[in-house]
Amino acid sequence: MRGAMTEKFISIEGITRRFAAPGGGATTVFEDLWLSMARGEFTCIIGHSGCGKTTVLNLLAGLDQPSEGTVIVDNQSIEGPSLDRAVIFQSHALLPWLSVKGNVAYAVASKWRRWRRAEIDKQAQTFIDLVGLTGAERKRPAELSGGMKQRVGIARALSIEPKIMLMDEPFSALDALTRGTLQDEVRRICLETGQTVFMITHDVDEAIYLADRVLLMTNGPDAVLAEIVENPLPKDRVRNEVHRHPRFYGVRNHIIDFLVSRSKNFAGDMKSNDYDRRRVPVVRPGAPQVGSTQPVSFDTTDPGQAWGPMQVVAGGAPVTPSWPGLIQDLHSGRSKTGPG
Ligand SMILES: Nc1ncnc2c1ncn2[C@@H]1O[C@H](COP(=O)(O)OP(=O)(O)O)[C@@H](O)[C@H]1O
Ligand SMILES: [Mg+2]
Repeated sequence: MRGAMTEKFISIEGITRRFAAPGGGATTVFEDLWLSMARGEFTCIIGHSGCGKTTVLNLLAGLDQPSEGTVIVDNQSIEGPSLDRAVIFQSHALLPWLSVKGNVAYAVASKWRRWRRAEIDKQAQTFIDLVGLTGAERKRPAELSGGMKQRVGIARALSIEPKIMLMDEPFSALDALTRGTLQDEVRRICLETGQTVFMITHDVDEAIYLADRVLLMTNGPDAVLAEIVENPLPKDRVRNEVHRHPRFYGVRNHIIDFLVSRSKNFAGDMKSNDYDRRRVPVVRPGAPQVGSTQPVSFDTTDPGQAWGPMQVVAGGAPVTPSWPGLIQDLHSGRSKTGPG
């Protein structure tokens, strides 16, 4: 019973989003999109810039309404923004006149309006401690580094104990070292608290490190969820060992291959295979596939693939991968050094 319920903790049911096109008519960002997420699951979505990832996130947040279809969270359809769902953007919208503690406490007080000062403070402090900001409670945002500000944003989001945490490229504005540390923190906290997360990223390695499942979205307009990639790495993975796992290159190459070529051609392929929008193919690179209608071949044993002369092209800018710790930043077309 519980299993069936948790499988569809979040259910996106046939959503379409159209925007008025400048010259009249409408542009369809995506149409008839179906997806469900389980409680406690960490889902990342990857796709080229402009394909509609933020649009999906805004619909999940209730900040935008679908043209058609519904989104259900914990058996309730989304009607608007709610303190059940926390959103973290790339730039942390902190209240500049409030301290670290004040910013978190403000969110706590908005959620639990009857709480007394002491209860609010206790809850705020718990999450300030959790993100490693103990001692910085009285600082104002202007006195904090970018990484610390983002920590406040994360503490604030978690402090309202949301049913789902929605993150839109939360670490992309941070330097590589800070980004790595915050990825570790977020991963630890989400595992500890059983937090359900939907996160947008352009960073393949970040997705593999954090996500239980990685959603691959094709280029827009008329974008579709091409595939759900189940992360074959063990749940207790550790940053510095992720790239040594025998399946790491299989999953990584699979995602990069999608971004390089399949994301553009998928619409054509959809017609030739029996792609079903309601049952997006699930693949588990490096192991026999689960529930996929189409065979996908990839090599899990040859780490040399990632060293080769392959180029990742995003927004027209070629990127030559390097190692160690490459992060493909498909948004900006730059390559950065990442975990490792
Ligand atoms: N409010 C809006 N009005 C018109 N078009 C929009 C609006 N929001 C997003 N779009 C368009 O929808 C598409 C998807 O945007 P977005 O979800 O932001 O992409 P992503 O987050 O994947 O980069 C883009 O073509 C964008 O121009
Ligand atoms: Mg976006």
